[in-house]
Amino acid sequence: MKFYITTAIDYANNSPHIGHALEKIQADVLARYHRNRKEKVFFLTGTDEHGTKNLRAAQSLKMDTQNFVDKIAEDFKSLKKLLNLSWDKFIRTTDRENHWHGVFKLWRALKQNGDIYKRSYQGLYCVGCEAFLTEKDLVNGKCPDHLKEPEIIEEENYFFRLSEYGNRIKEKILNDEIKIVPAGRKHEILSLINGGLEDISVSRSRERAPWGIPVPDDDTQTIYVWIDALPNYLTGIGFGRDNKESREQFHEFWPVDVHLIGKDILKFHALIWPAILMSIELPLPKSIYTHGWITVNGQKMSKTIGNVISPGDLAVKYGTDAVRYYLLREIPSTEDGDFSEEKFKERYNGELANGLGNFTARVLTLASKNYPEILATEIDNPEENLWQKIKETEKNIDKKINEFKLHEALIAIWDLIRFGDIYVNDAKPWENPQNKKREIANLVCILKNIAKFISPFLPQVSDIILSNIKKSGNVYKISKGENIFPRI
Ligand code: MSP
Repeated sequence: MKFYITTAIDYANNSPHIGHALEKIQADVLARYHRNRKEKVFFLTGTDEHGTKNLRAAQSLKMDTQNFVDKIAEDFKSLKKLLNLSWDKFIRTTDRENHWHGVFKLWRALKQNGDIYKRSYQGLYCVGCEAFLTEKDLVNGKCPDHLKEPEIIEEENYFFRLSEYGNRIKEKILNDEIKIVPAGRKHEILSLINGGLEDISVSRSRERAPWGIPVPDDDTQTIYVWIDALPNYLTGIGFGRDNKESREQFHEFWPVDVHLIGKDILKFHALIWPAILMSIELPLPKSIYTHGWITVNGQKMSKTIGNVISPGDLAVKYGTDAVRYYLLREIPSTEDGDFSEEKFKERYNGELANGLGNFTARVLTLASKNYPEILATEIDNPEENLWQKIKETEKNIDKKINEFKLHEALIAIWDLIRFGDIYVNDAKPWENPQNKKREIANLVCILKNIAKFISPFLPQVSDIILSNIKKSGNVYKISKGENIFPRI
């Protein structure tokens, strides 16, 4: 079994914020979950470094564009350690060797089968979206997402025959061959198709858009940034590289199992991307998971407001797993959600320090003090009702993860923690521990399973707990360990 998961590749115009982090952490949970099931996993992420948006950001700092995007790409890469992300590859669209060849190959294939043609065009371009908008999209003459008037642009461009593919895409989405999660978003896309799809422009004049991949055999044009970015999902696993290893990797992992993206870019992934793949006769993505947007104290994050939260700073201050927990638990996986430092501290103290942290400390203290070594058979064969509860929790977690309801999987795990708390309060093993070996072994069993269940979500804490319940031959050696979530 293989599992290939991708995230959006982030624009390299600014350092990462907690919205970018949310998506990467969600993808990391899925990658780790499938790895734990012994599947062969490939997790791809990266940065989208071409286009006017990135060029202007570099210019505003009077920096050389390549140096600027190099620096931002490093900021994004640093999240790997700071947030304990387990991606297998970080792709950059300015990487000629790993990315450009694949984009050229794709372009030539589209051109060869007649799906790319040239015509002149006038349109309203929003640099924030890196897309043409129609009058219908505007609110008071401005782009509703970026609150700026679009620029009027007239030039000769290459076009892609998206209009030819509407019916075929519709069928694939309707019958879940391309499964869009959540279902509400699927209907959104279907109604767009029903409204009719137009051909889209896939290049810009080189004069106006110099920062990009040149169109093969036409150096007056640059490939449109989205047509350069979407193929990262192919080039990231070797498409376009002419060696045996790359070819094998590509065949092993394509088609992708999950494209995980934000709601704002679903159109590109559910319409343009499948049409491109159909045109070059590659299998289609199996599913597209769409997450919502995160606000800060109810407001959109923006440099102007000055409320951009850096996930790295947060992780340094409160710890990696605390940040992962907040983002995964507070924000319903497919919906919008909010960040505030108060709510963060509330969840931290209530659910991490008093919840998981406290239960862990109680069990490890009781066991290490009274029974530092317990036979594996005693721990792994607990009372029937307890075993039932653990199995039920496991089933529930599997279901929730497969439905992309990561917050609900966490609710199920915290319900098991509560069950453990009630069990220890009822059993009161501290009163006469010499007669309570069975109860203490049961508690270690609950904790060990909790550690196993949290491992995709809070990998560091899971490892710490399991390192205090170490199997050696046919016994578990239990140590007290450190306080995993000191109160803040
Ligand atoms: N470069 C394109 C994606 C190309 S994918 C082939 C892009 N970049 S982005 O930097 O603007 O956004 C990257 C991802 O971060 C998107 O999935 C987007 O939805 C997500 N988010 C950006 N801001 C966000 C929040 N405030 N909250 C949650 N996710 C957000 O789009």
